[in-house]
Amino acid sequence: MSSEMLQQKALRQAFGNFGTGVALIGVHDANQKAVGLTINSFASVSLEPALLSWCLAKDSQLFAPITDADRFSVNILAADQTELSNRMAMPGEHLFQADEWTASASGGIFVNGALAQFDCRLHQTIEAGDHVVFLGAIEEAWACDQARDPLVYFRGGYRQLLGDGA
Ligand SMILES: Cc1cc2nc3c(=O)[nH]c(=O)nc-3n(C[C@H](O)[C@H](O)[C@H](O)COP(=O)(O)O)c2cc1C
Repeated sequence: MSSEMLQQKALRQAFGNFGTGVALIGVHDANQKAVGLTINSFASVSLEPALLSWCLAKDSQLFAPITDADRFSVNILAADQTELSNRMAMPGEHLFQADEWTASASGGIFVNGALAQFDCRLHQTIEAGDHVVFLGAIEEAWACDQARDPLVYFRGGYRQLLGDGA
């Protein structure tokens, strides 16, 4: 193993110690098909103006559809959505079924059963090594008010929260 690969493995392991939620990015591709990608690089950025960020790998199959789109949605997944998360993380499996999402006010993809949904206009992209950082201007936000657990990702696997979900 080259020292470069060793370094990448160490870096992946170190990054993986940051426990995160899991989100689905939703975009309409050039054929107006609803496609999604699983991410955990989501971050809240600003309240005024309302901005969020996430990072897209340049080698993703969805790189062209996502970078060509001028809007995207971010959907924060609930603990019972592992199947959808796994499917949207598989190469070639990014198509939403019609009953898996509802249109936002702008026609964006709000994933049914998600804990929170953000409809965004693309605000800015930033080249960052093998990824591109997306900043979204949030035009609509919705949050679930029921006591439900989020999907949690830590050290390469899904985890359960120990709290009561309230
Ligand atoms: C929990 C989890 C988090 C992920 N986070 C990101 C991310 O933040 N950015 C990204 O580009 N890919 C992320 N991925 C990988 C993509 O979901 C996808 O698996 C990968 O891009 C390969 O598929 P593709 O080439 O069809 O895009 C994540 C995958 C999982 C399972």
